Amino acid sequence: MIPRSFIQQLVQRCDIEEIVSGYVLVKRAGRNLKALCPFHSEKTPSLVLYPDNQSFYCFGCGAGGDVISFIMRAENLDYPDAVRFLARRVGMEVPEEGDDSGAQLRARVLQLNREAALFFHKCLKTPAGREGYAYLHEKRGLPDKIITSYGLGYAPDSWNALGDYLLGKGFTQEELLAAALSAKGRKGGIYDQFRNRVMFPILDLRGNVIGFGGRVLDDSKPKYLNSPDTPVFKKSRNLFSLNFAKNAGKEQLILAEGYMDVIAIYAAGFRNVVATLGTALTGEQARLMSKYAREILIAYDSDGAGQAATHRAINLLSEAGLTAKVIHMEGAKDPDEYIKKFGPTRFQLLLEGASDVIAHELAGIRARCDLETSEGRIEYLKSAVNVLADIRSPLEREVYASDVAQVAGVTAEAVGGQVNALIRKRAKEREKKEWRDIELNKEASQDRINPQKRQNLKEAQAEEGILAFLMDHPDSYGYLLNRIRPEDFVTDFNRKVLEAMASLRREGEVSLSLLGQLLTPEELRGAAGILARHHDQTQTKELLDAYIDILLAHKDRLKPEAARAADPADIEAYRRRLRERK
Ligand code: CTP
Ligand code: MN
Repeated sequence: MIPRSFIQQLVQRCDIEEIVSGYVLVKRAGRNLKALCPFHSEKTPSLVLYPDNQSFYCFGCGAGGDVISFIMRAENLDYPDAVRFLARRVGMEVPEEGDDSGAQLRARVLQLNREAALFFHKCLKTPAGREGYAYLHEKRGLPDKIITSYGLGYAPDSWNALGDYLLGKGFTQEELLAAALSAKGRKGGIYDQFRNRVMFPILDLRGNVIGFGGRVLDDSKPKYLNSPDTPVFKKSRNLFSLNFAKNAGKEQLILAEGYMDVIAIYAAGFRNVVATLGTALTGEQARLMSKYAREILIAYDSDGAGQAATHRAINLLSEAGLTAKVIHMEGAKDPDEYIKKFGPTRFQLLLEGASDVIAHELAGIRARCDLETSEGRIEYLKSAVNVLADIRSPLEREVYASDVAQVAGVTAEAVGGQVNALIRKRAKEREKKEWRDIELNKEASQDRINPQKRQNLKEAQAEEGILAFLMDHPDSYGYLLNRIRPEDFVTDFNRKVLEAMASLRREGEVSLSLLGQLLTPEELRGAAGILARHHDQTQTKELLDAYIDILLAHKDRLKPEAARAADPADIEAYRRRLRERK
């Protein structure tokens, strides 16, 4: 757990307006601020920022919380990582205390990975590792210098060589399992995960060894074995060789498909090269690249799979604000082979000749269609119009539209007309879908957070009023808890929020950010919604009393004596409540 005092200091330094402004345009609206919600698509702003309690809430999709929840959503991070992200932004150091077993384990796994990488690397030069060295050096042609730069290694053909070595260094079985360097055997022992493979250590930007890829020396399967996600490794958030590429001082990054391609490209003198880690490119990886480059040259394999992956990557990269270009390799299946066959200079020319994405897609369509026939030309036009309609800049759209018109032998106006019609149609469909999604979402998310609210609308609203009042008037806890107890809250969700607030209050300050440590992100979203819905109401003591009375009246009705005198409908309601409580 990150200490509360630290969270308090951190959120004090991270103004919600400033943080959110980094993602969307924020405009003043009275006491509050409004913006287009970045978490769903919309045309009229429904995201409201409340500077006084530093919260946000989207009346469209129900996203809400404090700065930390905002970063969790916007950057797709978990709570501790979002805290670290914000801390870095304002130059604060997150205290990783000794009693934090998670942080301790992470530190141990990193030490262990480093030892393992050194072990694999040293093995290359021992008799047991001769085969591994021969593979990298002779078969794949890697010079010693490159083998050393990348810290490549060899995992011996043994079930316990690495395990025994690391246990001898004082690491435990649990730590080896956590690092996923060992697996659990059937008889309860452990065995080495990587055996008889050349090893590629994966480094993060600080130079920590966070995981490994291992390749067989022959044609057996699986060709590559990759570390799974561990406490220090998330595949979807890291890129192979980014630790080198980020220092290359280039505005471009070359994106290759795998370890060997990256190393071959690097060895040929292009240090600005990265690859994903045995999975397809993710949005997180695209955003990570956008911190270091403006333009990405995609150098995937020339086979069908590589081309399909190229298509998917293009979308993710452009969503991250990057320009993507595609390299056309002929005469080789991947960059490694290309460089071996034709040399670095030809590869450089390939990089310079990388075509922009639209030209690449249009060329792909053209190659698929038989332009000699009218059916072929129609098919070409249909597919091409689809691509053209994706282009944002009207000028660029027109330039390509006239190329397409020429290829298909029709007028530029005809193509332009088709493109505009498609753009309008898509916009309409998007709008419809947007609206439908929001309506569905709003109800579903409120029900999900507080499923008992529908059946106890009056009481639940009173509870929410009380919670909102308490947030603004922290001095009223004593008064409130004198009149009613948390058990008197009818809905479980609101009671949970009240209890969390009361426990914070007993120890000091109450704020949405501190609640974020006690509630799940979904629950915090619900709490932010309650505050947002009450934000612009005047809160008076009379109102608080009225809310309390509603809950007390409800409690009276639940008493058995009252039930005897009550009318049959109430008794039925009471029975239903009892059943629900069980
Ligand atoms: N990959 C994987 N698991 C496999 C095969 C591939 O994780 N069974 C991943 C690896 O990250 C690999 C990348 O996909 O680096 C590309 O795979 P492939 O094109 O098959 O390998 P190459 O990079 O060409 O490797 P090599 O030249 O060593 O055959
Ligand atoms: Mn290859």
